[in-house]
Amino acid sequence: MKPIKVGLLGLGTVGTGVVRIVEGHQEDLSSQVGSPIVIERIAVQNIEKVRNISVDHNRLTENPWDVIRDPEIDVIVEVMGGVDQTKAYILEALERGKHIVTANKDLMALYGSEILAKAQEKQCDVFYEASVAGGIPIIRTLIEGFSSDRILKIMGIVNGTTNFILTKMSQEGASYSDVLQEAQELGYAESDPTSDVEGLDAARKMAILSTIGFRSNIELQDVSVRGISQVTKEDIAYAKRLGYEMKLLGIADRSDDHFSISVQPTMVRKSHPIASVNGVFNAVYVYGEAVGETMFYGAGAGEMPTATSVVADLIAVIKNLKLGVNGLKAIVPYKPKKLKNDEQ
Ligand code: NDP
Ligand code: HSE
Repeated sequence: MKPIKVGLLGLGTVGTGVVRIVEGHQEDLSSQVGSPIVIERIAVQNIEKVRNISVDHNRLTENPWDVIRDPEIDVIVEVMGGVDQTKAYILEALERGKHIVTANKDLMALYGSEILAKAQEKQCDVFYEASVAGGIPIIRTLIEGFSSDRILKIMGIVNGTTNFILTKMSQEGASYSDVLQEAQELGYAESDPTSDVEGLDAARKMAILSTIGFRSNIELQDVSVRGISQVTKEDIAYAKRLGYEMKLLGIADRSDDHFSISVQPTMVRKSHPIASVNGVFNAVYVYGEAVGETMFYGAGAGEMPTATSVVADLIAVIKNLKLGVNGLKAIVPYKPKKLKNDEQ
Protein backbone atom coordinates (compact mmCIF):
# COMPACT_ATOMS: atom_id res chain seq x y z
CA MET A 1 0.00 0.00 0.00
CA LYS A 2 1.27 3.44 -0.92
CA PRO A 3 2.06 5.34 2.29
CA ILE A 4 0.49 8.70 3.11
CA LYS A 5 3.34 11.17 3.52
CA VAL A 6 3.09 13.88 6.14
CA GLY A 7 5.20 17.02 6.52
CA LEU A 8 5.50 18.26 10.09
CA LEU A 9 6.20 21.93 10.83
CA GLY A 10 7.50 22.03 14.42
CA LEU A 11 8.92 19.43 16.79
CA GLY A 12 8.34 21.15 20.14
CA THR A 13 5.82 20.15 22.81
CA VAL A 14 2.98 19.30 20.40
CA GLY A 15 5.11 18.10 17.47
CA THR A 16 6.91 15.61 19.73
CA GLY A 17 3.53 14.23 20.84
CA VAL A 18 2.43 13.95 17.21
CA VAL A 19 5.52 11.87 16.32
CA ARG A 20 5.02 9.69 19.42
CA ILE A 21 1.38 8.96 18.53
CA VAL A 22 1.86 8.49 14.78
CA GLU A 23 4.82 6.16 15.31
CA GLY A 24 3.62 4.52 18.55
CA HIS A 25 0.08 3.84 17.30
CA GLN A 26 1.11 3.17 13.68
CA GLU A 27 -0.51 -0.24 13.40
CA ASP A 28 -3.88 0.96 14.64
CA LEU A 29 -3.78 4.24 12.68
CA SER A 30 -2.76 2.64 9.41
CA SER A 31 -5.46 0.01 9.74
CA GLN A 32 -8.03 2.82 10.16
CA VAL A 33 -6.98 4.55 6.95
CA GLY A 34 -5.75 1.58 4.92
CA SER A 35 -2.19 2.92 4.39
CA PRO A 36 0.95 3.41 6.43
CA ILE A 37 1.37 7.01 7.64
CA VAL A 38 4.91 8.30 7.30
CA ILE A 39 6.23 11.56 8.76
CA GLU A 40 8.48 12.31 5.83
CA ARG A 41 10.05 15.67 6.76
CA ILE A 42 10.10 17.86 9.86
CA ALA A 43 10.88 21.58 10.00
CA VAL A 44 12.51 22.90 13.16
CA GLN A 45 14.23 26.14 14.08
CA ASN A 46 17.46 24.56 15.28
CA ILE A 47 18.46 21.23 13.81
CA GLU A 48 21.22 20.71 16.42
CA LYS A 49 18.94 21.09 19.44
CA VAL A 50 18.97 18.16 21.87
CA ARG A 51 15.47 16.64 21.78
CA ASN A 52 13.64 14.26 24.08
CA ILE A 53 12.63 12.13 21.12
CA SER A 54 14.95 10.42 18.69
CA VAL A 55 14.33 11.30 15.05
CA ASP A 56 16.48 10.56 12.06
CA HIS A 57 18.53 13.72 11.33
CA ASN A 58 17.90 13.31 7.59
CA ARG A 59 14.24 14.06 8.13
CA LEU A 60 14.94 17.45 9.74
CA THR A 61 15.26 20.78 7.96
CA GLU A 62 15.51 24.36 9.19
CA ASN A 63 13.62 25.58 6.13
CA PRO A 64 9.84 25.03 6.25
CA TRP A 65 9.70 25.65 2.46
CA ASP A 66 11.53 22.31 2.00
CA VAL A 67 8.50 20.65 3.54
CA ILE A 68 5.87 22.76 1.79
CA ARG A 69 7.47 22.30 -1.63
CA ASP A 70 8.12 18.55 -1.31
CA PRO A 71 5.88 17.04 -4.02
CA GLU A 72 5.75 13.71 -2.17
CA ILE A 73 3.98 15.22 0.85
CA ASP A 74 0.19 14.91 0.98
CA VAL A 75 -0.63 16.55 4.34
CA ILE A 76 1.05 19.35 6.30
CA VAL A 77 0.74 19.28 10.09
CA GLU A 78 1.55 22.75 11.40
CA VAL A 79 2.55 22.82 15.08
CA MET A 80 5.22 25.50 15.10
CA GLY A 81 3.09 28.58 15.85
CA GLY A 82 3.51 32.09 14.45
CA VAL A 83 1.16 34.08 12.28
CA ASP A 84 2.27 35.95 9.16
CA GLN A 85 5.04 33.69 7.90
CA THR A 86 3.07 30.62 8.93
CA LYS A 87 0.06 31.90 6.99
CA ALA A 88 2.28 32.16 3.90
CA TYR A 89 3.38 28.51 4.35
CA ILE A 90 -0.19 27.31 4.76
CA LEU A 91 -1.53 29.25 1.77
CA GLU A 92 1.29 27.97 -0.44
CA ALA A 93 0.71 24.40 0.75
CA LEU A 94 -2.98 24.73 -0.13
CA GLU A 95 -2.07 26.23 -3.49
CA ARG A 96 -0.10 23.02 -4.09
CA GLY A 97 -3.12 20.89 -3.16
CA LYS A 98 -1.85 19.76 0.24
CA HIS A 99 -4.25 19.26 3.14
CA ILE A 100 -3.63 21.00 6.45
CA VAL A 101 -3.90 20.15 10.12
CA THR A 102 -3.01 22.95 12.52
CA ALA A 103 -3.09 23.64 16.27
CA ASN A 104 -2.56 27.34 15.69
CA LYS A 105 -5.34 29.44 17.22
CA ASP A 106 -3.46 32.70 16.65
CA LEU A 107 -3.51 32.00 12.92
CA MET A 108 -7.07 30.64 12.76
CA ALA A 109 -8.55 33.45 14.89
CA LEU A 110 -6.99 36.08 12.64
CA TYR A 111 -6.96 34.46 9.20
CA GLY A 112 -9.26 31.44 9.49
CA SER A 113 -11.78 32.65 6.93
CA GLU A 114 -9.08 33.49 4.34
CA ILE A 115 -7.37 30.13 4.84
CA LEU A 116 -10.64 28.22 4.66
CA ALA A 117 -11.69 30.10 1.53
CA LYS A 118 -8.42 29.07 -0.10
CA ALA A 119 -8.98 25.49 1.05
CA GLN A 120 -12.43 25.55 -0.51
CA GLU A 121 -11.04 26.90 -3.79
CA LYS A 122 -8.38 24.18 -3.92
CA GLN A 123 -10.72 21.46 -2.56
CA CYS A 124 -8.43 20.77 0.36
CA ASP A 125 -9.14 20.15 4.03
CA VAL A 126 -8.03 22.42 6.88
CA PHE A 127 -8.68 20.87 10.30
CA TYR A 128 -7.81 22.72 13.51
CA GLU A 129 -9.34 20.83 16.43
CA ALA A 130 -6.30 21.29 18.69
CA SER A 131 -6.49 25.06 18.38
CA VAL A 132 -9.15 25.17 21.12
CA ALA A 133 -9.20 23.28 24.42
CA GLY A 134 -6.34 20.84 23.67
CA GLY A 135 -7.68 17.29 23.93
CA ILE A 136 -11.42 18.15 24.01
CA PRO A 137 -13.02 17.63 20.57
CA ILE A 138 -15.10 20.80 20.89
CA ILE A 139 -14.73 22.16 17.34
CA ARG A 140 -15.90 18.91 15.79
CA THR A 141 -18.76 18.83 18.31
CA LEU A 142 -19.91 22.37 17.49
CA ILE A 143 -19.70 21.86 13.72
CA GLU A 144 -21.21 18.38 13.55
CA GLY A 145 -22.84 17.53 16.86
CA PHE A 146 -24.86 20.75 17.11
CA SER A 147 -25.49 21.41 13.41
CA SER A 148 -29.19 20.86 14.10
CA ASP A 149 -29.43 23.34 16.96
CA ARG A 150 -29.23 27.07 17.60
CA ILE A 151 -26.48 27.73 20.12
CA LEU A 152 -27.32 30.49 22.61
CA LYS A 153 -24.32 30.38 24.93
CA ILE A 154 -20.75 29.06 24.95
CA MET A 155 -18.92 29.52 28.23
CA GLY A 156 -15.83 28.01 29.70
CA ILE A 157 -12.27 27.72 30.78
CA VAL A 158 -10.31 27.57 27.53
CA ASN A 159 -6.80 28.37 28.72
CA GLY A 160 -4.91 25.68 30.62
CA THR A 161 -2.00 27.85 31.75
CA THR A 162 -4.14 30.40 33.58
CA ASN A 163 -6.33 27.72 35.12
CA PHE A 164 -3.19 25.94 36.32
CA ILE A 165 -1.94 29.20 37.85
CA LEU A 166 -5.26 30.13 39.49
CA THR A 167 -5.69 26.60 40.87
CA LYS A 168 -2.22 26.57 42.46
CA MET A 169 -2.72 30.07 43.86
CA SER A 170 -6.06 28.97 45.33
CA GLN A 171 -5.11 25.52 46.65
CA GLU A 172 -1.48 26.03 47.65
CA GLY A 173 -1.21 29.79 48.12
CA ALA A 174 1.54 29.65 45.49
CA SER A 175 2.91 32.82 43.93
CA TYR A 176 1.86 33.83 40.43
CA SER A 177 5.39 33.97 39.00
CA ASP A 178 6.49 30.54 40.37
CA VAL A 179 3.43 28.83 38.93
CA LEU A 180 3.78 30.56 35.57
CA GLN A 181 7.33 29.21 35.35
CA GLU A 182 6.06 25.71 36.18
CA ALA A 183 3.38 25.97 33.44
CA GLN A 184 6.11 26.98 30.98
CA GLU A 185 8.30 24.03 32.01
CA LEU A 186 5.36 21.65 31.53
CA GLY A 187 4.85 22.96 27.97
CA TYR A 188 1.41 24.47 28.65
CA ALA A 189 2.24 28.12 28.07
CA GLU A 190 2.62 29.87 24.72
CA SER A 191 6.15 30.84 23.60
CA ASP A 192 5.21 34.33 24.77
CA PRO A 193 3.14 33.57 27.91
CA THR A 194 1.79 37.13 27.96
CA SER A 195 -0.90 35.94 25.59
CA ASP A 196 -1.97 33.35 28.19
CA VAL A 197 -1.95 35.57 31.26
CA GLU A 198 -3.44 38.63 29.56
CA GLY A 199 -6.34 36.59 28.20
CA LEU A 200 -5.47 36.92 24.51
CA ASP A 201 -5.06 33.18 23.97
CA ALA A 202 -8.51 32.58 25.49
CA ALA A 203 -9.94 35.44 23.40
CA ARG A 204 -8.61 33.83 20.21
CA LYS A 205 -10.23 30.56 21.21
CA MET A 206 -13.53 32.27 22.02
CA ALA A 207 -13.47 34.01 18.62
CA ILE A 208 -13.05 30.60 16.95
CA LEU A 209 -15.71 28.88 19.07
CA SER A 210 -18.30 31.64 18.72
CA THR A 211 -17.74 31.94 14.96
CA ILE A 212 -18.46 28.22 14.61
CA GLY A 213 -21.16 27.98 17.29
CA PHE A 214 -23.08 31.10 16.26
CA ARG A 215 -22.36 30.55 12.54
CA SER A 216 -21.28 34.13 12.20
CA ASN A 217 -18.04 35.99 11.55
CA ILE A 218 -16.83 36.83 15.04
CA GLU A 219 -13.39 38.42 14.97
CA LEU A 220 -10.76 38.77 17.64
CA GLN A 221 -11.47 42.49 18.00
CA ASP A 222 -15.09 41.62 18.89
CA VAL A 223 -13.96 39.91 22.10
CA SER A 224 -13.48 42.10 25.17
CA VAL A 225 -10.47 40.82 27.10
CA ARG A 226 -9.08 41.01 30.61
CA GLY A 227 -6.45 38.54 31.84
CA ILE A 228 -5.30 37.37 35.27
CA SER A 229 -2.09 39.36 35.69
CA GLN A 230 -3.77 41.72 38.17
CA VAL A 231 -5.42 38.95 40.20
CA THR A 232 -3.75 38.58 43.60
CA LYS A 233 -3.60 35.77 46.17
CA GLU A 234 -5.70 38.03 48.38
CA ASP A 235 -8.45 38.34 45.70
CA ILE A 236 -8.55 34.57 45.42
CA ALA A 237 -8.66 34.03 49.19
CA TYR A 238 -11.43 36.64 49.53
CA ALA A 239 -13.48 34.94 46.76
CA LYS A 240 -13.02 31.61 48.55
CA ARG A 241 -14.28 33.01 51.86
CA LEU A 242 -17.44 34.15 50.06
CA GLY A 243 -17.93 30.66 48.54
CA TYR A 244 -16.46 31.29 45.07
CA GLU A 245 -13.49 30.18 42.97
CA MET A 246 -11.71 32.65 40.69
CA LYS A 247 -11.62 31.41 37.07
CA LEU A 248 -10.64 33.00 33.76
CA LEU A 249 -13.91 32.54 31.88
CA GLY A 250 -14.70 33.00 28.23
CA ILE A 251 -18.37 33.86 27.82
CA ALA A 252 -20.13 34.11 24.44
CA ASP A 253 -23.81 34.99 24.52
CA ARG A 254 -26.43 35.33 21.87
CA SER A 255 -29.78 37.00 22.35
CA ASP A 256 -31.90 37.24 19.20
CA ASP A 257 -29.18 37.75 16.63
CA HIS A 258 -26.92 39.90 18.80
CA PHE A 259 -23.70 38.55 20.26
CA SER A 260 -21.45 39.52 23.14
CA ILE A 261 -18.13 37.81 23.74
CA SER A 262 -15.73 38.37 26.62
CA VAL A 263 -12.83 36.88 28.52
CA GLN A 264 -12.35 37.95 32.13
CA PRO A 265 -11.50 36.71 35.63
CA THR A 266 -14.82 35.69 37.13
CA MET A 267 -15.93 34.57 40.59
CA VAL A 268 -17.67 31.24 40.05
CA ARG A 269 -19.90 29.87 42.83
CA LYS A 270 -18.29 26.71 44.27
CA SER A 271 -21.44 24.66 43.58
CA HIS A 272 -21.13 25.30 39.81
CA PRO A 273 -19.36 22.45 37.93
CA ILE A 274 -16.93 24.94 36.33
CA ALA A 275 -15.60 25.89 39.80
CA SER A 276 -14.15 22.40 40.23
CA VAL A 277 -12.27 22.39 36.90
CA ASN A 278 -8.69 22.53 38.15
CA GLY A 279 -5.11 22.58 36.92
CA VAL A 280 -4.52 22.38 33.18
CA PHE A 281 -8.05 21.10 32.61
CA ASN A 282 -10.51 23.02 30.43
CA ALA A 283 -14.28 22.84 30.34
CA VAL A 284 -16.69 24.21 27.75
CA TYR A 285 -20.36 24.66 28.57
CA VAL A 286 -22.66 24.88 25.54
CA TYR A 287 -26.32 25.83 25.79
CA GLY A 288 -28.45 25.12 22.73
CA GLU A 289 -32.08 26.13 22.21
CA ALA A 290 -33.10 22.52 21.60
CA VAL A 291 -30.48 20.47 23.43
CA GLY A 292 -30.33 22.60 26.59
CA GLU A 293 -27.21 22.34 28.77
CA THR A 294 -24.12 20.33 27.79
CA MET A 295 -20.57 20.39 29.11
CA PHE A 296 -17.25 19.07 27.82
CA TYR A 297 -14.21 18.50 30.00
CA GLY A 298 -10.59 17.44 29.52
CA ALA A 299 -6.94 18.44 29.40
CA GLY A 300 -6.65 21.81 27.67
CA ALA A 301 -2.92 21.83 26.92
CA GLY A 302 0.19 19.68 27.04
CA GLU A 303 2.01 17.30 24.73
CA MET A 304 -0.12 14.17 24.52
CA PRO A 305 -3.67 15.57 24.94
CA THR A 306 -3.01 18.18 22.25
CA ALA A 307 -1.32 15.68 19.95
CA THR A 308 -4.36 13.40 20.34
CA SER A 309 -6.51 16.07 18.67
CA VAL A 310 -3.90 16.81 16.01
CA VAL A 311 -3.53 13.16 15.01
CA ALA A 312 -7.32 12.62 15.08
CA ASP A 313 -7.54 15.48 12.56
CA LEU A 314 -4.79 13.86 10.51
CA ILE A 315 -6.75 10.59 10.40
CA ALA A 316 -9.91 12.46 9.37
CA VAL A 317 -8.02 14.28 6.59
CA ILE A 318 -6.52 11.02 5.29
CA LYS A 319 -9.92 9.32 5.30
CA ASN A 320 -11.34 12.21 3.26
CA LEU A 321 -8.35 12.15 0.93
CA LYS A 322 -8.95 8.46 0.27
CA LEU A 323 -12.64 9.00 -0.35
CA GLY A 324 -11.92 12.01 -2.55
CA VAL A 325 -14.10 14.30 -0.43
CA ASN A 326 -13.49 17.29 1.80
CA GLY A 327 -15.07 17.47 5.19
CA LEU A 328 -15.78 19.41 8.32
CA LYS A 329 -15.34 22.83 6.78
CA ALA A 330 -15.17 25.39 9.37
CA ILE A 331 -14.98 29.07 9.79
CA VAL A 332 -17.50 30.29 7.25
CA PRO A 333 -19.10 33.70 7.63
CA TYR A 334 -22.66 32.42 7.35
CA LYS A 335 -24.31 35.76 8.00
CA PRO A 336 -23.29 39.22 9.18
CA LYS A 337 -22.80 39.54 12.91
CA LYS A 338 -24.50 42.00 15.20
CA LEU A 339 -22.70 42.73 18.44
CA LYS A 340 -24.64 43.85 21.50
CA ASN A 341 -22.72 47.12 21.84
CA ASP A 342 -23.17 48.00 18.13
CA GLU A 343 -26.51 49.60 18.98
CA GLN A 344 -25.61 51.25 22.28
P1 NDP B 1 7.01 24.84 20.96
O1 NDP B 1 7.61 26.18 21.15
O2 NDP B 1 7.22 23.81 21.99
O3 NDP B 1 7.51 24.23 19.56
C1 NDP B 1 7.59 24.97 18.39
C2 NDP B 1 8.35 24.15 17.36
O4 NDP B 1 8.35 24.83 16.12
C3 NDP B 1 9.80 23.88 17.73
O5 NDP B 1 10.15 22.58 17.34
C4 NDP B 1 10.57 24.92 16.91
O6 NDP B 1 11.86 24.48 16.54
C5 NDP B 1 9.69 25.00 15.69
N1 NDP B 1 9.75 26.30 15.01
C6 NDP B 1 9.39 27.49 15.50
N2 NDP B 1 9.57 28.46 14.59
C7 NDP B 1 10.05 27.85 13.49
C8 NDP B 1 10.46 28.31 12.21
N3 NDP B 1 10.39 29.60 11.88
N4 NDP B 1 10.92 27.41 11.32
C9 NDP B 1 11.00 26.10 11.63
N5 NDP B 1 10.62 25.61 12.84
C10 NDP B 1 10.16 26.47 13.76
O7 NDP B 1 5.45 25.08 20.71
P2 NDP B 1 4.24 24.13 21.08
O8 NDP B 1 4.49 22.77 20.58
O9 NDP B 1 3.86 24.32 22.50
O10 NDP B 1 3.04 24.82 20.24
C11 NDP B 1 2.99 24.70 18.85
C12 NDP B 1 1.65 25.24 18.35
O11 NDP B 1 0.59 24.52 18.95
C13 NDP B 1 1.40 26.72 18.68
O12 NDP B 1 0.62 27.28 17.66
C14 NDP B 1 0.56 26.62 19.97
O13 NDP B 1 -0.24 27.75 20.18
C15 NDP B 1 -0.28 25.41 19.66
N6 NDP B 1 -0.79 24.70 20.81
C16 NDP B 1 0.04 24.36 21.84
C17 NDP B 1 -0.46 23.65 22.91
C18 NDP B 1 0.41 23.25 24.05
O14 NDP B 1 -0.14 22.68 25.02
N7 NDP B 1 1.71 23.49 24.03
C19 NDP B 1 -1.87 23.25 22.97
C20 NDP B 1 -2.65 23.64 21.81
C21 NDP B 1 -2.12 24.34 20.79
P3 NDP B 1 13.00 24.11 17.64
O15 NDP B 1 12.51 22.85 18.31
O16 NDP B 1 14.23 23.87 16.85
O17 NDP B 1 13.07 25.27 18.57
N1 HSE C 1 -1.17 28.05 26.11
C1 HSE C 1 -2.37 27.34 25.85
C2 HSE C 1 -3.09 27.06 27.14
C3 HSE C 1 -2.07 26.05 25.12
O1 HSE C 1 -2.46 27.17 28.20
O2 HSE C 1 -4.28 26.76 27.12
C4 HSE C 1 -3.32 25.32 24.68
O3 HSE C 1 -3.98 26.02 23.66
